[in-house]
Amino acid sequence: MEKKVLKIGQISDTHIGADASCVQDIDVRKNFLTAYNADSMKNLDLLVISGDLADEESPEAYAYIAGILEDCKVPVCIIPGNHDKLEIMEKFFDLNGKVHNGRCYYRYDIAGRSIFFLDSADGTVSSDQLRWLEEETAKVEGEVLLFLHHPPCHCNHKFMDLRYAMKNIDEVQATLSKINNLKYIFVGHYHSEMVEKIGDKTVFVTPSTQMQIDPNSSVFCLSSAAPGWRVVEWGENFMETKVYFSNTP
Ligand SMILES: [Fe+2]
Repeated sequence: MEKKVLKIGQISDTHIGADASCVQDIDVRKNFLTAYNADSMKNLDLLVISGDLADEESPEAYAYIAGILEDCKVPVCIIPGNHDKLEIMEKFFDLNGKVHNGRCYYRYDIAGRSIFFLDSADGTVSSDQLRWLEEETAKVEGEVLLFLHHPPCHCNHKFMDLRYAMKNIDEVQATLSKINNLKYIFVGHYHSEMVEKIGDKTVFVTPSTQMQIDPNSSVFCLSSAAPGWRVVEWGENFMETKVYFSNTP
């Protein structure tokens, strides 16, 4: 029997502040809600929030997001980013069984498919996680997806590659290359929409809901304050993904 096509929404880098005031002159709460309530995000099977939920690790930021998600009708998978503090996140989101040695990584099974989530909040994917990923993906028959905060590669983004790239790219890529049933990797962190190849795998970089950073400038340069988000449709031998921006006509 053909497996169901899963519709997955990805929101990344919301950078919510401690109160409703703007973060870097941007109404980040409004931007988050624009993505969360977008027509393209209706009828999801799963919502993923892929790190940098809070701008400065504040409990109030997590409380705000958790409050919004209270009425979310679908499962939500969350992973931390470099701006997050896992110990605080655990107080507001149900991360039971997902945190091991201070890192939040897990497998989520839905409709007979498996999706993997890794924690790169400190700029690395620890060797514990890499070992676990290799072992656990080998147990899955059929294709899997992977979400993490940092791209496991450089992306031709002058500002981010230079300052904030993943620190153990070679080690991570060595493990990824051994995982044959993984073809699609979804990340955030770079505040840009990008697509990169690592061998037979494609890395989809999802824009931020906070703001986009110009990839062609080596110094910080805002390219847009319009929120962006991603929708993934994943079926058997089928994956289609599209990025939306609030100012897309
Ligand atoms: Fe980040």
